[in-house]
Amino acid sequence: MEIASAVNELREKILAWKKHGRKIGFVPTMGYLHEGHLSLVRESKKRSEVTVVSIFVNPKQFGPSEDYRVYPRDLERDRALLEKEGVDLVFYPPVDVMYPEGYKTYVEVEDLQDRLCGKSRPGHFRGVCTVVLKLFNLVQPDEAYFGWKDAQQVIILQKMVEDLNVPVKIVPLPLVRDHDGLALSSRNTYLSPEERRAALVLKKSLDLAEKLILEGEKEAGRIREEMIELISAEPLARLDYVEIVKLNNLEPLERIEGEVLIALAVFIGRTRLIDNLRITSGGIEK
Ligand code: PAF
Repeated sequence: MEIASAVNELREKILAWKKHGRKIGFVPTMGYLHEGHLSLVRESKKRSEVTVVSIFVNPKQFGPSEDYRVYPRDLERDRALLEKEGVDLVFYPPVDVMYPEGYKTYVEVEDLQDRLCGKSRPGHFRGVCTVVLKLFNLVQPDEAYFGWKDAQQVIILQKMVEDLNVPVKIVPLPLVRDHDGLALSSRNTYLSPEERRAALVLKKSLDLAEKLILEGEKEAGRIREEMIELISAEPLARLDYVEIVKLNNLEPLERIEGEVLIALAVFIGRTRLIDNLRITSGGIEK
C-alpha cells in the first residue's frame, strides 16, 4: 500500500490505472477509522479493481467553534487498518495542498445544505461538497462509497454529482452500529463512560419511532413528539433537532408516506451526535 501526499504523486498512480482501464473505487474519510469506514473499504474492494482511500480532516467543513483542532487523528493506526484491508493507495494531503494560499472556489448545493444539520452547522455542507468535488477531480473514481450514517451528506452529494455532471457514482452503504446500537462515529471517542451510556438515547428514540410506525402511526408530528419526550428524559442529552422528511429532497413531511428519513442530532455533553432511520421500498433501515 502506498501513501501519496502530493497531487503529482497521486495523479501518476491514477493515470497508470486509468491507462489500463482499471475500475477505481474511492472512500473519502477524515481518518481515525472505525468499522463503518472499513465496511466502505470492503465494499470498494468487492466492486472495484483498485481502492483509494483519502484521509483529510477538512478544515472547511468545521465551524469556528467546532472541533477541527481536536478532531482525533492517528495516521499510523489508520495505515495499519487499511493495509490489512488490501487498500491500494492512501491519499493523505496536508491542508496547503488542498487549499493553497489564495484558494477561492466553493461548491454549494442550495436549499438542501440549509436543512437538518445545515441549520446548526452553517457552511458545513459547502465545505463537504467543496472537498469531495476536489477529491473526485484528483482521484477520478468510477464509484465513491459513503455511509448512510450521514444521510444528508449522501443526499447532497448525489444532487451535486447530478447537477454538475460529475462522472462518479455515489454508492451509499448501511450505517454500522456498535454492539449496543450506538452508531459508529470517530466522535464517540470524546464520550466519557457515562456519556457513552447516555448516547444510546439516539438509537432508542429511533427504535421508538420504528415501533410506532410498525403499529400503524402515520402522523409525523406524533412520532416526533414521542421521540423528543424520550430524549428530553435523558439528563445528559440536549436536543439539536429531530426531523421527519422526504428522503430525496429533505422536505418536512406531515405523514409517513413514500420514502422517509427520520434524522436527529443530539448533544451528549459537548459532543454532537447524529443518527437516522430510513423508510424505503425495502422497509425500515437504521
Ligand atoms: O464523511 C466524512 O468523513 C467527510 O464529510 C468527508 C466525506 C470525508 C469529507 O470531508
